[in-house]
Parts: sequence; C-alpha cells; structure tokens
Amino acid sequence: MFRSHRALSLTGAFALLAVLVAAFILLKLVSLLLFEVDRPLPPPENARYRDASVDLEVRVDDLLAQMTLEEKVGQMALVEKGSVLEFNDVGRYGIGGILSGGGGKPDPNTKEAWSTMVATFDVASRISRLGIPVLYGVDANHGHANIPGAVVFPHAIGLGAAGDEDLVEAVARATGEEMRATGIRWNFSPALDLPQDIRWGRTYEAFSDDPVLAGRLGAAYVRGLQGETERTDVLATLKHYIGVGAMHFGSSHNEDYFIDQGITSADERALRTEYLPPFQMAVGAGAHAVMVGLNRWGDTEMAASSHLINDVLKEELGFDGFVVSDWYGVYDIPGGDYHAAVVAINAGVDMVMLPFEYRTFIRNVTKAVRAGDIEETRINDAARRILRAKFALGLFDTSTSTPLESIGSDPHRALARDAVAKSLVLLKGEGVLPIKADTTLIRVAGSAADNTGRQAGGWTIEWQGVDGNVLPGATSILAGLQAAVTDESRIEYSKDGKFGDEDIADIGIAVVGEAPYAEGWGDMPEPRLSAEDLQAIERLKNVSKRVVVVLVTGRPLILPETWDTWDALAVAWLPGSEGAGVADVLFGKKTFQGKLPLPWLRDAAQLPINLVTGTANGTAPLFPRYFGLK
Ligand code: BGC
Ligand code: BGC
Repeated sequence: MFRSHRALSLTGAFALLAVLVAAFILLKLVSLLLFEVDRPLPPPENARYRDASVDLEVRVDDLLAQMTLEEKVGQMALVEKGSVLEFNDVGRYGIGGILSGGGGKPDPNTKEAWSTMVATFDVASRISRLGIPVLYGVDANHGHANIPGAVVFPHAIGLGAAGDEDLVEAVARATGEEMRATGIRWNFSPALDLPQDIRWGRTYEAFSDDPVLAGRLGAAYVRGLQGETERTDVLATLKHYIGVGAMHFGSSHNEDYFIDQGITSADERALRTEYLPPFQMAVGAGAHAVMVGLNRWGDTEMAASSHLINDVLKEELGFDGFVVSDWYGVYDIPGGDYHAAVVAINAGVDMVMLPFEYRTFIRNVTKAVRAGDIEETRINDAARRILRAKFALGLFDTSTSTPLESIGSDPHRALARDAVAKSLVLLKGEGVLPIKADTTLIRVAGSAADNTGRQAGGWTIEWQGVDGNVLPGATSILAGLQAAVTDESRIEYSKDGKFGDEDIADIGIAVVGEAPYAEGWGDMPEPRLSAEDLQAIERLKNVSKRVVVVLVTGRPLILPETWDTWDALAVAWLPGSEGAGVADVLFGKKTFQGKLPLPWLRDAAQLPINLVTGTANGTAPLFPRYFGLK
C-alpha cells in the first residue's frame, strides 16, 4: 500500500515533469514562431559601446555584434511621431528614428511640450534591451519654425541672395541651438535642390540654381549645424538627392501637383556637371545624412536607383553617412510593400521614412533577409551607418542640450534681422532709396505689409505655413518701418491702399507677395501677384509721389506690365520673423547687398530655365542671375 502509493507518486512526479518540459518546449516553440529568435539578455553596464572613452568605430562594432537581426532592422525604421502605436513599441521594435513632419506638433504647441514629447520618445528607446537612443528629426529649414516663438530665419532662397557663407553658418548654428533646446538632434536640411522652374512650389527651399553657390552655402550650413568639434551638435541632411528642381512641368505622379514629385530626365551629363557638385561639396563638409528625393530619375524612383545611391553617392563620392528615403517614397516603388522595401534597401537606402507602418516593415525586411532577398551584410552596413551618426552625436553619452531660453533669443533675432537685410535685392530704383527717416508722410499698403505668417512662408507652425500675424515675438515689415522713422514722420497703413486723398504722401511703400505654401501645393502655372495686390499698388500710386514695391515671395514672380511705373522694386524673399531687417535697408541703415540667386523671367514661355542652355525659348530673362543694384 505504502509502496504502491510511493510508486504512484513517483510516476505522478515524472508525469508532472514531463508535462512541464512539454509545456516549456511548446512555449519556446510558440515564442520562436512569434518572435522568430530567442531574445538574448541585455549586455552588462560596462559594455564597450557604452564607454565614451572608446573609439567610435570600436563602439559601433561592439554594439552591432550584440544586436539581433530584428534590432538592426528596427534601426532602419523612421516613423512619424503620430504613427507610433504604443509607447513601448519604440523600445520593443528598437525604432531607429522618429520625426515630426511639417506641422507635426505636440498639443499644446509650446517649446516645453516639444521638449517633453521628444524626451518621452527618448526614454522609451533607452529602456530597450540595448538602450539604443532614438534619433528625432524635424524640418527646421528656416529655424526651428514648427514652434511658435522660435526665430524664423529667411528661407534658403534669401540666404542664396545674400550669398554669404559666414552668415549661413551662423544661421545654421543658431537653428541647431534652438533645436537642441527641445532635445532634437536631427535636421532635414539643407536642401541642395537646383530650381530650374519657378512654377515649382519648393523654389524657396533652395539657395540657388547655381550648383556652385548651392554647394558653397550647403557646405557652410553643414558646418554651422553639425559644429566642428569631435562631437556633432545636430545632424545635417542633404536633400533631395538628386536632380530635384529639374523635374518636368506636368510630370508629377501626385495628381494635385504639377512639378513636385515629378520626373527628372536621366541625363548623366547634367548629373555630373550640375546636380552632383553641390552634394559633393556638402558631403565633403562632413554631412551625416542624405535624403533621396520623391522624384523619378527617368522612369526609376529615386529610392530604387542602386546606380545613383550605391554607385555614385556611396562609392564614387565616398559618402559614409546614412541615406534616408523621403516621406512614403519607398512605397512609390511598384510591386507591393515587401518588394518595395527589398528594392530600396538593396539600392542603398539605409533608413526608411515609412513614415507610418513600422511593424510590417520590420517583419518584411527580416523575412527578406531570411529568404535571401537582402544580404545580411547590407543590413549590417545600414545599421552601422545609422549607429555611427548616433555615436557621433554623443547620444549614448551625456546630453548636450541647450537652455529652452535659446528659442527665440535676442542674439538669434539680431542674426535673423541681419540676414534679412543682407538678402534684400534691389532690382530698380537707384536714387529713390534710401528713404529719409524724417519724411513727413509715408503710406504703406499691400497684403504682406503686416503679416508675419506671409513673411515666414511654408514650413512655419504648419506644413503649409500660416497666414496672418500669428508668430509670437515676430516683427512685421510694417512694424519695422514704424520703428525706423523719427517723431516728425507719420506712417499711414491700409492693406488695400484705401487712403483719404486729401494730401499726397512723399512716398508709398507697397509690400506685396505670395500667401504661404509648401511642396506641390505651391506648384503654380504662372506665379504672379494677386489682383488685390496690384490694385493696392495702383491706389497707393495715386496718393503718393513715388512708390517703392517690396516683394515678399518664395520665387521670382512674373511681373505685370505696370511694373515700369513703379519707382523702385526690391525683393525681400521670405524674410521670416524679423521684418525690421527690411526697414534697415530701405532707410539706409544698411546698404543693398543681395544678388538674384536665380534669373528673373519675363514670362512663362521662358520656362524652364537651364544653367547651361538658358531660357526655354532662348530669349533673355528680365534680370540675369546675380543681378542686384547697390
Ligand atoms: C519632404 C521632405 C521633408 C519630409 C519630412 C517630405 O514630404 O519632401 O523635404 O523632409 O517630408 O517632413
Ligand atoms: C507632412 C509633411 C510631409 C507631407 C508629404 C505632410 O502631411 O506634414 O511633413 O512632407 O505630408 O506629403
């Protein structure tokens, strides 16, 4: 009885053990099926990659050696912040980068909320097995302008008109400081696009259509943003690789656009002589990232071009940073999501701006490696390039953020005001200017005179920009003029130019131009002044002895015939938050220095314009590139 009881309990114990072992094996199998690999343990606290005194490449090697395939693929994912499904996903999937697209702001949109938002994603990444910090990226292409209160610098076309490398370097450095105050270390700038057609809505994001000027200023921007010490301050991204700005009108694959996301002729000669040089110069300045465009090179999507990415950029130019694709661009490659990711990664794309679905992407790419569609060495190379940038930023080490007060600081405003003054181009009116500060009566009119949103243009607070006086701390051009005159002088303002006509003003200043736009929304068949602005100029002319027209515009506009009745014409481009820089020059505190960064056309029949072959119909532009009166 006793024996049999013992025997029974022994059998029972064995059975229990067998059940436990079977359950364990089953669980293991299920977990292998679900997660594909066995999760290794976290490395020790003193792992070499965590040691700031170890050589960067050794740290990268050490970290890579500890990473699973999924973790490496996770680094290749760049996700829009609103698309992160769960806080824990950042660490669980080891997501490499998170971005705010244009207008991708926290609620409320304050600098404090930005820094909390970015810090939250940072923490989410650091609690992962390997603690690899996530990179946060934004388009701070004219200052950290997603944030109300940040200093908004002139858009690149204005900096191109100023043509001053030291200025661009300082602007980029100040932008980087404002970014770091919110914990952001990655800027999707500078754009090295060469706009050959002013109908394109991104003309203002480029410095010039001259590859050498674009390259010089692009390199200066990289130096200013990244800094020149061993530790990189903020990553620069050269974009959009390549041939962007030379797409054919009407070729966009987006049915609402005309040019943006269109087709560039696959012209190897132009590639060498025009499109490549600016990238070569800025790669030479040490840029850590290059973004491939949403254009097609002939019939190939840029993100699919192994020739242009692997052979030309990485091999020929020796670019050892990482290549990031543009917004959803990889999925423009036909053949389905799996195939598109395979093609782009094999073509040399290292980080994919998905920007939405990351779980499927990581699953697909991991599967592609297991199926032999992507070599694991390619994944190692991509992860290595991304991690190298993260180590260069010191993300694994102590933080180098700047105080929140640097956002919108006085020194940055002074710098921006100076940039505005340097970017002004005088096309007509020698002798009319400068205006005397004690002029008895000055009348001001036009849609852009008292509108800081228009001054700032696209990529300000919202993707498409904001219309109206809504930028805290900004100075409108009108306010700048009012502050520039003496007590003996009177300034009257009417947006529409409707003044009482009892007395004639000594001078009228019409500040007119474009409403904000970004990307393809700004593609326009004939960029011109609005009827309202033309009417305001006419009304102003009737009540002023002389009229000075100031254009607030992202591109050269086709001028109306009446322009020869204007006494003076100056271009302020998209000057940003510091409108007082315009008055500084109009009132002679500073002189006109800007030169047209691209030719100014007479009419649309001259489009597109080409650096080598000139205007489309062979006629001379109204003003050539580099024109500008003193
Ligand atoms: C633009 C890029 C930009 C990205 C992220 C894209 O649509 O083409 O220039 O960096 O969005 O906002
Ligand atoms: C985003 C932009 C992006 C664009 C692309 C917008 O919704 O805010 O950053 O460039 O989509 O189409």
